[in-house]
Amino acid sequence: MADSEWHLLGSVDELAKKPLQQITVGRTRIALSHRDGAFGAISGACNHVGGPLGDGRLDGDYVVCPWHNWKYHFQTGQGEPGYEAECVPRFSLRIENGQLLVDLQAATKRNRIPHEPHPLARPIERAPGPLRVVGLSTTAMDPSNPRFSTSDELLLTAISHAEAEGAVTRVIKLNGLQFRHCEGYYSKAAQACTWPCSITQMDPADQLDQVYEALVHWGDVLVLATPIRWGSASSLYYKMAERLNCVQNQVTIRDRVMIKNKVAAFIVTGGQDNVQGVVGSLLTFFGELGFLFPQFPFIAHSRGWTAEDMERNVSEVRDSSELHEGAMALVSRATELARGLVDAKHEGETAMPRGGRKAHRLQGKVTH
Ligand code: FES
Repeated sequence: MADSEWHLLGSVDELAKKPLQQITVGRTRIALSHRDGAFGAISGACNHVGGPLGDGRLDGDYVVCPWHNWKYHFQTGQGEPGYEAECVPRFSLRIENGQLLVDLQAATKRNRIPHEPHPLARPIERAPGPLRVVGLSTTAMDPSNPRFSTSDELLLTAISHAEAEGAVTRVIKLNGLQFRHCEGYYSKAAQACTWPCSITQMDPADQLDQVYEALVHWGDVLVLATPIRWGSASSLYYKMAERLNCVQNQVTIRDRVMIKNKVAAFIVTGGQDNVQGVVGSLLTFFGELGFLFPQFPFIAHSRGWTAEDMERNVSEVRDSSELHEGAMALVSRATELARGLVDAKHEGETAMPRGGRKAHRLQGKVTH
């Protein structure tokens, strides 16, 4: 065992004022706690993905990690009951003349229990096979009393056409999935927003894994359909988009682009206006995820701000051969581009510049 390395932390009276605090000495992070007149010092780095334990909170005798709530005993560093083998190091403390000292040579070692990786965490490799098209419906409605949806109508036309052209398809209706809102892990720290999504890993009942599976692992083409609600895409779209931050965040924190050689196209319908605003937002977001776009990447329908006779929108879209043909042409453009990307990859060519988003931006600066 290494020799002791005692370090003065400060006055007992001052340090006892905070129930929990994160202290860094050199490269050693310590979660120092004070509870019922007793100090505890354990590592300030969580076993999970390194959350700052001293910035968490105390729950009885346990330090709760501020990132995803793993718990460690404030004095022993052992995990909560049932997970005692999940340990962070503990540090010895001593008091001299009203001063608190810590031995920077940890008294115990870190121990991690092996955890089965989430199925979504597997390597991203396109399995051989025909082109795969994901249709994503974002409209909200009462499922037990369904109504006619113009965006769904055109989406299903596009998907049927993709099938007729030889693709395999999968339609996901966000309205039919039970999934939680993004709860702001990224707002705590970029590293706290994990892949797979922290919620997906912690809550087996959350069904957004179907979207992650389809977009990250399965599909070559995404066709997303949304209504316009008060000038924006549907609320369900935004609920999903916030949860997709974990995909984009891998570019930020790991320079890892998970969406490669995939194509997105959009169907936007609204009783009122702002097609360009909605599509601009969709293009920005899916571009930041890594999707590519075909020439003319969307179709849309809106009769404008003064068109309050919504039933006429329904009949116009339902009866419009132009819009249905537009939906078919849209998916054909998207699949054509995707097919080229897939074939190029199979021939061993690089279909995208190598490197992450930062590298792409740098290339842009050099060449423009
Ligand atoms: S619970 Fe501590 S980093 Fe996730």
